[in-house]
Formats: sequence, structure tokens, C-alpha cells
Amino acid sequence: MTEAIATRDPALRVTAMPADANAYGDIFGGWLMSLMDSAAGLVAARRAKGRAVTIAMDGMKFLSPVHVGDEVSVYAEVVKVGRTSLTIAVEAHARDRHRETTRKVTEADFTFVAIDRDRRPRPVDA
Ligand SMILES: CC(C)(COP(=O)(O)OP(=O)(O)OC[C@H]1O[C@@H](n2cnc3c(N)ncnc32)[C@H](O)[C@@H]1OP(=O)(O)O)[C@@H](O)C(=O)NCCC(=O)NCCS
Repeated sequence: MTEAIATRDPALRVTAMPADANAYGDIFGGWLMSLMDSAAGLVAARRAKGRAVTIAMDGMKFLSPVHVGDEVSVYAEVVKVGRTSLTIAVEAHARDRHRETTRKVTEADFTFVAIDRDRRPRPVDA
């Protein structure tokens, strides 16, 4: 990420709820991955000015557990634009709902491909 997280607007911000947790009370990794994909998808669709689909997710790392009640903010930034693809660096940060301190909980790079009406790759900057 090129800018300090504290100064940026998240692509998504939600509260982790009991239904998102496993039997031990920690939030499912898959729930976070879904949020990250959604956040990256918003940024991809905006940059590609149309439909874009996830083709790859690289370097997924779970750095710290998320707990029920935490505020989860997902930041997403375009870091590379190819001919038909774009790569988006995504980070999720969690804040205990009663405190100001935040921690990075996940990071990954998502690659999206811009597609046309027939679902074929199309140039991002057509
Ligand atoms: C996206 C899709 C249309 C691409 O078709 P394709 O024939 O595989 O595309 P191409 O081989 O021409 O590659 C398209 C771009 O993706 C890039 N790409 C392909 N595989 C990649 C990978 N594993 N990681 C990163 N980029 C990749 C290529 O480099 C190319 O980028 P560029 O044009 O910027 O150079 C097709 O793979 C698809 O429909 N996948 C399913 C997408 C989906 O449903 N996602 C939701 C998950 S359920």
C-alpha cells in the first residue's frame, strides 16, 4: 500500500458477527477472503469501467485472529494494470469495537480480468 492506512478510506467496513465465527469464537478465514474479494471487486469494476472477474489470489496471509464484534476494514488499491488484467493489493484491518487500536489481520493480491458481454477478456483501457 502506498499511503498510510489511517489516512485512507476503506473499500468496505463491517462488524464481525457470531454467524461468521467458528466453534471457538474466531472468525472464519473464508469470511475474510470473501470480504477481500468483494472489496477488490469494487475497485476492479471501477478501474475497468465494467465487469471484471477474479482470476487469481496470491500471497494470502492470515496475520492475526479476528474476534466477534471487531470492526473490520478492508483496503484495496490497484498496484498493476496489464492488458486485460489488473492486480489489486488488499489488506484487512481489525479494531476492537471498544478501542482505537487497529491491527492488520490479512493481506493478499487479487488479480481480476476485465470481460466483455460474452465473458471474454477485454482490454482494461479500451
Ligand atoms: C477470466 C477469464 C475470462 C480469463 O480467460 P483466459 O482465457 O484464462 O484469459 P487469458 O489467458 O487471456 O488471461 C487474461 C489475463 O489474465 C492474466 N492471468 C491469467 N492467469 C493468471 C494468474 N494465475 N495470475 C495472474 N494473472 C493471470 C493473464 O496474464 C492476462 O493478463 P493481461 O491481458 O493483462 O496480460 C476465465 O479464466 C474465467 O472466466 N475464469 C473464471 C472467473 C470467475 O468466474 N471468477 C470468479 C470465481 S468463482
